[in-house]
Order: sequence, then C-alpha cells, then structure tokens
Amino acid sequence: MPETETRKLDVAWVRAQFPSLQLQVQGRPAAFMDGPAGTQVPRQVIQAIENYFVSANANTCGAFETSRRNDSMIAATRIAMADFFNCHPSEVVFGQNMTTITFALARAIARELKAGDEIMVTTLDHDANVAPWRALEEKGVVIRQVDIREEDCTLDLEDLQGRITPKTKVVAVGYASNIVGTINPIAEITKLAHAAGALMFVDAVHYAPHGLIDVKALDCDFLVCSPYKFFGPHMGTLYGKRAHLQRFKSYKVRPATDAIPDCWETGTQVQELIAGIGAAVDYIAGLGGHCDVTAKNRREALHAAYRATVPYERTLLTRLLEGLQTIRGVKVYGIIEPRRFGERCSTISLRLGEHHPTQIAKFLGDRGIFTWDGNFYALNLSERLGVESKGGVLRIGLVHYNTAEEVDRLLSALQEFAGQ
Ligand SMILES: Cc1ncc(COP(=O)(O)O)c(C=O)c1O
Repeated sequence: MPETETRKLDVAWVRAQFPSLQLQVQGRPAAFMDGPAGTQVPRQVIQAIENYFVSANANTCGAFETSRRNDSMIAATRIAMADFFNCHPSEVVFGQNMTTITFALARAIARELKAGDEIMVTTLDHDANVAPWRALEEKGVVIRQVDIREEDCTLDLEDLQGRITPKTKVVAVGYASNIVGTINPIAEITKLAHAAGALMFVDAVHYAPHGLIDVKALDCDFLVCSPYKFFGPHMGTLYGKRAHLQRFKSYKVRPATDAIPDCWETGTQVQELIAGIGAAVDYIAGLGGHCDVTAKNRREALHAAYRATVPYERTLLTRLLEGLQTIRGVKVYGIIEPRRFGERCSTISLRLGEHHPTQIAKFLGDRGIFTWDGNFYALNLSERLGVESKGGVLRIGLVHYNTAEEVDRLLSALQEFAGQ
C-alpha cells in the first residue's frame, strides 16, 4: 500500500470502541445523530478518566507521587493536543469550554485595543464566536459583521474583503458552521486578515470531528475547539501562537505562574477530563493506525484517520441528501451539490413544511433517532435565514460512527412523519 493510501473505514471496528452505541430506546437501537452538540466517547476515554481517579488524583506540582503523575499526564495531554493542532505543546491551553476560553481571551486582547478599533465577526458563526467580541463594544470597539450568500450559506468573501481595513484588529471566523456545515476557507481569510495587520481567531469546534486541523498550514493566530465534539470529554482547548500567548496578558491570580501556557489556565483545571482529552486524541490516532499501518507517528496516524473518515462521512451525506430530496416539503439549507462537498461537512439542517422542528425531533427521538432542533446558538444565521421565530431548524449531524442503515432509518421515519 503506498504511504498516503488509507484503507476504507472499518465501521464495525469503530462502533465496537464506543460502548454507548449499544444503547436501546424502547427496544430499538439508539441512532446518535446529535454529534454537533457532543459526540459519544470511546472506551479508552472512559478508562483514562477512571484511571486518573484511581492512580493520579491530586492537584499539580506537589512533592508526592500522585501529584507527579497528574503533572506528567497533563504534559502528555498537551503533547497529544499539539499533535492534534500541529503546534508546540507550549501553545496548547486547556479550559472549561470554548465559550469560556473565548470570553477570557477576548478580554485579554482588549487590553491592547482602543475605541474605534474594529473586530470582524460573521453571520455564519456560533454566538460563542460573536458575543465575546461584541462584549468589547463597551470599550468603544466597533464590530463589523460579514454576511453570507443566502443561496448556499457560504461566507460572502467579497463582503469580508470590503470590510477589512487598517482599523481591523481581529478577524473571528468559524472553521465550519454548526448549522449548515459550510467549511470556510480559513487559510485564505487568514491571509486577508494578516495583510491588514489583524489577528486571525478561528472557532474550529464544529470542524474538529470532520477534518484534520493544521494550525501551521492555516497560519492562524488562535484556534479553539472542544474535545467533547471530537469523542472526548466536556472541555475546551485553545491553540495560540507562542508569541501571542507571551505578549498578551492573561487575567490571573498573582501566585500562579506567569509562564505560558499555564498562565492562561486559571484555577484548578478539571484534571480528570484532561486525562480524557489525551485518550480522545489517541483514539483518533488509533483509528488512523487501524486504517494505515504505515503511519509513523501520532500526527501521521491522525492524518490517516481523517483520510478514512472524510470520504466515509461524504457517502453518508450523499445518501442522506438524496433521500431527503424524495420527501415532499423538505428544504435543506446550505450546499447540496455533491461536486461541492469539499466545502461542507456532514451536518445537515432542514425544515419540513411548516412543522415545528421540535415536533419532528421529538417524533424521531421517540423512535430512538437523536437529532437536534433550534438555533444551536448560531443566532445570527438563524435570524438571517428567517427561521428564528419559527423554532429554527432540524439538525442531523453525522460522524464516522454513524451508518448507512441509520440514515435509512431516519429517512423512513421522516417519511412517516410527513405522511408519505
Ligand atoms: C461552532 C461552535 N462554536 C462554539 C461552540 C461552543 O462550544 P462550547 O460548548 O465548548 O463552549 C459550539 C457548541 O455547540 C459550536 O458548535
């Protein structure tokens, strides 16, 4: 097998790693299509958290064995996340979740901003990449918002280009939309931001389970994602270029270290969950190793994993979209042409006639099919698409542990709901 070739995804192997995928709801197997709100976790994540409590449960930097074990576990997890991001471990910060990290970072960056400075946000983003920046309006910072092209729910790059000026200090953009699945051209936008002297902040929360992140290739200044969306525990992680983590001043207590990255991690971390983050990265790398035995290190194995999951997720997406087109009254938002699937991930949002999305989600939920309804906090987009006052949309989120049979079950249930 040539070095870059990867075996097809072994879905049976994948599913065997996730104990919760065996759950039954009223005699029917549960179908987890709720991944964008949080994925299931493989056994090794559960075990890592348990092992932490059994053998390494202590605070950091103590002069005794369990504390030393905790320190080395945190250091090892930082290295794992550095492989995940493709950065140096000192550029990895752990935090409660993406939202909390972003509020803290925005506030720290704001120490260097003055009234009239501008920050760019987008109509496509989750509010966690909007509200922390909008909060700086209190300081006189001006927020500019990039619009979308409504027909395919992609960012309007002309609008973006027109709005970047020498006053722009931060461009805050999502890697992928958590409603419509659009993947944004981050490397291209980073170039535009840097040409204007602005920092590039990327929300990769929705993208992380669907594609390999490479902060070096993107050249972004900051990137955040949340392990609970990529098969890990409920936490957030931040990549920051070392020079920025050193230069900006974090809000912290005086006795805590000034050294990066620790100075950005306020208070005691949820250490047991940090243990789970390392295991989540190792699960993805293990999947990569299962797909490509030639992968020589963890980064290569991560790459191999996504080389297998991306095409697999696309086959599910194709099946789902084809099926949806046969159901009368369904409107899908975002890119639907297969030739453009490189610009989106396998997250689909739809409306079915005038039915309230909660009603559909409940109907599906009663049949063991877990989907979400609402705006998923991507308030700008929900308003822009005119669905905010109508209950938002129904979101079907497919990841690599979902199957074609589950997609077919969902389609039949939707057909039944629609009375067809
Ligand atoms: C795209 C996106 N950004 C940010 C967030 C917020 O992440 P967290 O729950 O880690 O604060 C979410 C959560 O759903 C999301 O989907």
